[in-house]
Amino acid sequence: MDHDSRAVFFDRTAEHYDEDTFHAAVADALVAPLPSGPGVVLDVATGTGFAAYAALRLKPARVLAVDLSTAMLARAEAKAAELDPDGRIEWRAGPAVPMPAEDHSADVVLCASSLHFLGAVAFADWLRVLKPGGRLAFSVVSGARFKRTGPFADFVPDDLSFPLDEAGAAALAKDFVNVSAQTFTVNDGERVRSVFMVHATAP
Ligand SMILES: C[S@@+](CC[C@H](N)C(=O)[O-])C[C@H]1O[C@@H](n2cnc3c(N)ncnc32)[C@H](O)[C@@H]1O
Repeated sequence: MDHDSRAVFFDRTAEHYDEDTFHAAVADALVAPLPSGPGVVLDVATGTGFAAYAALRLKPARVLAVDLSTAMLARAEAKAAELDPDGRIEWRAGPAVPMPAEDHSADVVLCASSLHFLGAVAFADWLRVLKPGGRLAFSVVSGARFKRTGPFADFVPDDLSFPLDEAGAAALAKDFVNVSAQTFTVNDGERVRSVFMVHATAP
Protein backbone atom coordinates (compact mmCIF):
# COMPACT_ATOMS: atom_id res chain seq x y z
CA MET A 1 0.00 0.00 0.00
CA ASP A 2 1.62 3.28 -1.07
CA HIS A 3 1.71 6.41 1.06
CA ASP A 4 -0.84 8.29 -1.04
CA SER A 5 -3.45 5.54 -0.65
CA ARG A 6 -2.79 5.40 3.08
CA ALA A 7 -3.16 9.15 3.37
CA VAL A 8 -6.51 9.03 1.56
CA PHE A 9 -7.71 6.30 3.92
CA PHE A 10 -6.73 8.19 7.06
CA ASP A 11 -8.01 11.49 5.65
CA ARG A 12 -11.47 9.87 5.68
CA THR A 13 -11.16 9.00 9.38
CA ALA A 14 -10.14 12.50 10.45
CA GLU A 15 -13.52 14.11 10.90
CA HIS A 16 -14.66 11.83 13.71
CA TYR A 17 -11.30 10.70 15.06
CA ASP A 18 -11.35 12.80 18.23
CA GLU A 19 -14.74 11.41 19.24
CA ASP A 20 -13.00 8.21 20.32
CA THR A 21 -11.50 9.10 23.69
CA PHE A 22 -9.39 5.93 23.83
CA HIS A 23 -6.64 7.43 21.70
CA ALA A 24 -6.33 10.47 23.95
CA ALA A 25 -6.15 8.23 27.00
CA VAL A 26 -3.35 6.15 25.42
CA ALA A 27 -1.37 9.27 24.51
CA ASP A 28 -1.73 10.74 28.00
CA ALA A 29 -0.60 7.52 29.66
CA LEU A 30 2.39 7.19 27.34
CA VAL A 31 3.65 10.64 28.20
CA ALA A 32 2.89 10.61 31.94
CA PRO A 33 6.00 8.69 33.15
CA LEU A 34 8.48 10.73 31.07
CA PRO A 35 10.79 13.26 32.72
CA SER A 36 10.20 16.99 32.29
CA GLY A 37 12.32 19.34 30.26
CA PRO A 38 13.25 17.46 27.08
CA GLY A 39 14.74 19.44 24.23
CA VAL A 40 13.21 17.82 21.16
CA VAL A 41 10.20 15.50 21.19
CA LEU A 42 9.18 13.61 18.04
CA ASP A 43 5.59 12.42 17.68
CA VAL A 44 5.59 9.68 15.06
CA ALA A 45 2.30 9.40 13.11
CA THR A 46 0.71 12.11 15.22
CA GLY A 47 -2.80 11.91 13.75
CA THR A 48 -4.84 14.67 15.35
CA GLY A 49 -1.99 15.38 17.75
CA PHE A 50 -2.97 13.72 21.03
CA ALA A 51 0.57 12.67 21.96
CA ALA A 52 2.12 15.91 20.68
CA TYR A 53 -0.19 17.97 22.87
CA ALA A 54 0.27 15.63 25.83
CA ALA A 55 4.03 16.12 25.44
CA LEU A 56 3.66 19.85 26.11
CA ARG A 57 3.11 18.92 29.76
CA LEU A 58 6.79 17.92 29.81
CA LYS A 59 7.69 21.49 28.87
CA PRO A 60 9.84 20.56 25.87
CA ALA A 61 11.75 23.10 23.81
CA ARG A 62 9.98 21.85 20.71
CA VAL A 63 7.87 19.04 19.31
CA LEU A 64 7.96 17.77 15.73
CA ALA A 65 4.75 15.94 14.85
CA VAL A 66 4.58 14.04 11.55
CA ASP A 67 1.72 12.30 9.78
CA LEU A 68 0.83 11.20 6.26
CA SER A 69 -2.70 12.49 6.46
CA THR A 70 -3.18 16.19 5.84
CA ALA A 71 -6.75 15.95 7.10
CA MET A 72 -5.59 14.49 10.42
CA LEU A 73 -2.96 17.22 10.64
CA ALA A 74 -5.53 19.91 9.89
CA ARG A 75 -7.57 18.65 12.86
CA ALA A 76 -4.43 18.70 14.99
CA GLU A 77 -3.46 22.22 14.00
CA ALA A 78 -6.98 23.50 14.57
CA LYS A 79 -6.45 22.85 18.29
CA ALA A 80 -3.14 24.72 18.45
CA ALA A 81 -4.48 28.16 19.37
CA GLU A 82 -5.97 26.71 22.52
CA LEU A 83 -3.53 23.91 23.39
CA ASP A 84 -0.21 25.23 22.08
CA PRO A 85 -0.32 29.02 22.45
CA ASP A 86 3.51 29.22 22.46
CA GLY A 87 3.70 27.42 19.11
CA ARG A 88 6.09 24.71 20.29
CA ILE A 89 4.68 22.04 17.99
CA GLU A 90 5.70 21.91 14.34
CA TRP A 91 3.26 19.90 12.20
CA ARG A 92 4.73 18.17 9.19
CA ALA A 93 2.95 16.18 6.46
CA GLY A 94 4.73 13.10 5.13
CA PRO A 95 5.95 9.62 5.98
CA ALA A 96 6.99 9.18 9.61
CA VAL A 97 9.52 6.45 8.81
CA PRO A 98 12.11 7.69 8.43
CA MET A 99 11.33 10.68 10.62
CA PRO A 100 12.50 13.97 9.10
CA ALA A 101 15.01 14.47 11.89
CA GLU A 102 18.79 14.40 12.17
CA ASP A 103 20.58 11.41 13.66
CA HIS A 104 20.76 11.53 17.48
CA SER A 105 18.84 14.80 17.66
CA ALA A 106 15.78 13.79 19.73
CA ASP A 107 15.31 13.48 23.49
CA VAL A 108 11.97 11.69 23.25
CA VAL A 109 10.21 9.65 20.58
CA LEU A 110 6.48 9.05 20.98
CA CYS A 111 4.39 6.68 18.91
CA ALA A 112 0.81 6.32 20.08
CA SER A 113 -1.61 3.87 18.48
CA SER A 114 0.38 3.78 15.24
CA LEU A 115 3.17 1.19 15.37
CA HIS A 116 0.96 -1.40 13.65
CA PHE A 117 0.84 0.88 10.60
CA LEU A 118 4.58 1.51 10.55
CA GLY A 119 6.06 -1.92 11.18
CA ALA A 120 9.21 -3.10 12.90
CA VAL A 121 11.33 -0.95 10.60
CA ALA A 122 10.39 1.98 12.83
CA PHE A 123 12.63 0.76 15.66
CA ALA A 124 15.83 1.22 13.70
CA ASP A 125 14.76 4.73 12.81
CA TRP A 126 13.99 5.54 16.46
CA LEU A 127 17.46 4.35 17.43
CA ARG A 128 18.83 6.59 14.70
CA VAL A 129 17.04 9.77 15.77
CA LEU A 130 17.30 9.40 19.55
CA LYS A 131 20.24 10.75 21.49
CA PRO A 132 21.97 8.17 23.69
CA GLY A 133 19.82 8.09 26.81
CA GLY A 134 16.83 9.45 24.91
CA ARG A 135 13.45 8.03 25.79
CA LEU A 136 11.09 5.98 23.64
CA ALA A 137 7.40 5.54 24.48
CA PHE A 138 5.07 3.59 22.21
CA SER A 139 1.85 1.64 22.43
CA VAL A 140 1.20 -1.60 20.62
CA VAL A 141 -1.92 -3.63 20.13
CA SER A 142 -2.13 -7.17 21.46
CA GLY A 143 -1.94 -10.04 19.01
CA ALA A 144 -4.80 -11.62 20.95
CA ARG A 145 -7.08 -8.73 20.01
CA PHE A 146 -5.73 -7.31 16.77
CA LYS A 147 -6.17 -9.30 13.59
CA ARG A 148 -4.88 -8.38 10.15
CA THR A 149 -8.41 -8.23 8.79
CA GLY A 150 -11.02 -5.58 8.10
CA PRO A 151 -10.44 -2.05 6.87
CA PHE A 152 -6.88 -1.79 8.25
CA ALA A 153 -5.58 -5.07 6.86
CA ASP A 154 -3.87 -3.58 3.82
CA PHE A 155 -2.02 -1.04 5.93
CA VAL A 156 -0.39 -3.42 8.39
CA PRO A 157 3.15 -4.44 7.48
CA ASP A 158 4.17 -8.10 7.78
CA ASP A 159 7.39 -7.52 9.68
CA LEU A 160 5.82 -6.85 13.09
CA SER A 161 4.84 -9.69 15.38
CA PHE A 162 2.07 -8.51 17.64
CA PRO A 163 2.81 -9.32 21.28
CA LEU A 164 0.58 -11.53 23.38
CA ASP A 165 1.82 -10.32 26.75
CA GLU A 166 3.91 -7.62 28.39
CA ALA A 167 7.14 -9.58 27.95
CA GLY A 168 6.43 -9.84 24.23
CA ALA A 169 5.71 -6.14 24.03
CA ALA A 170 8.96 -5.29 25.82
CA ALA A 171 10.85 -7.63 23.49
CA LEU A 172 9.92 -5.41 20.53
CA ALA A 173 12.31 -2.81 21.95
CA LYS A 174 15.11 -5.37 22.20
CA ASP A 175 17.80 -2.96 21.00
CA PHE A 176 16.96 -0.45 23.75
CA VAL A 177 17.78 -0.56 27.46
CA ASN A 178 15.67 -0.13 30.62
CA VAL A 179 12.64 -1.50 28.79
CA SER A 180 9.34 -1.79 30.63
CA ALA A 181 5.89 -2.77 29.40
CA GLN A 182 2.50 -2.48 31.03
CA THR A 183 -1.01 -3.35 29.99
CA PHE A 184 -3.18 -0.26 29.66
CA THR A 185 -6.92 -0.87 29.78
CA VAL A 186 -9.90 1.43 29.37
CA ASN A 187 -13.43 0.33 30.15
CA ASP A 188 -15.83 2.99 28.90
CA GLY A 189 -18.90 1.03 29.92
CA GLU A 190 -19.58 -0.17 26.38
CA ARG A 191 -16.39 -2.06 25.71
CA VAL A 192 -13.08 -2.90 27.25
CA ARG A 193 -9.99 -2.03 25.22
CA SER A 194 -6.37 -2.52 26.06
CA VAL A 195 -2.93 -2.03 24.56
CA PHE A 196 0.60 -2.55 25.79
CA MET A 197 2.59 0.55 26.68
CA VAL A 198 6.32 0.28 26.32
CA HIS A 199 8.90 2.69 27.71
CA ALA A 200 12.56 2.30 26.86
CA THR A 201 15.84 4.19 26.69
CA ALA A 202 18.20 4.49 23.75
CA PRO A 203 21.62 2.95 24.54
C1 LIG B 1 -4.69 5.33 14.71
S1 LIG B 1 -4.00 6.84 14.18
C2 LIG B 1 -3.03 7.32 15.59
C3 LIG B 1 -2.80 8.81 15.61
C4 LIG B 1 -2.20 9.36 16.90
N1 LIG B 1 -0.83 8.95 17.09
C5 LIG B 1 -3.02 9.04 18.12
O1 LIG B 1 -2.45 8.59 19.12
O2 LIG B 1 -4.21 9.27 18.11
C6 LIG B 1 -2.80 6.30 13.01
C7 LIG B 1 -2.12 7.43 12.26
O3 LIG B 1 -0.98 6.92 11.61
C8 LIG B 1 -0.82 7.67 10.42
N2 LIG B 1 0.08 6.91 9.55
C9 LIG B 1 -0.07 5.65 9.12
N3 LIG B 1 1.00 5.27 8.42
C10 LIG B 1 1.86 6.33 8.43
C11 LIG B 1 3.15 6.55 7.89
N4 LIG B 1 3.81 5.61 7.21
N5 LIG B 1 3.74 7.75 8.09
C12 LIG B 1 3.09 8.73 8.78
N6 LIG B 1 1.86 8.57 9.32
C13 LIG B 1 1.26 7.37 9.15
C14 LIG B 1 -2.23 7.84 9.92
O4 LIG B 1 -2.33 8.88 8.98
C15 LIG B 1 -2.98 8.10 11.21
O5 LIG B 1 -3.07 9.48 11.48
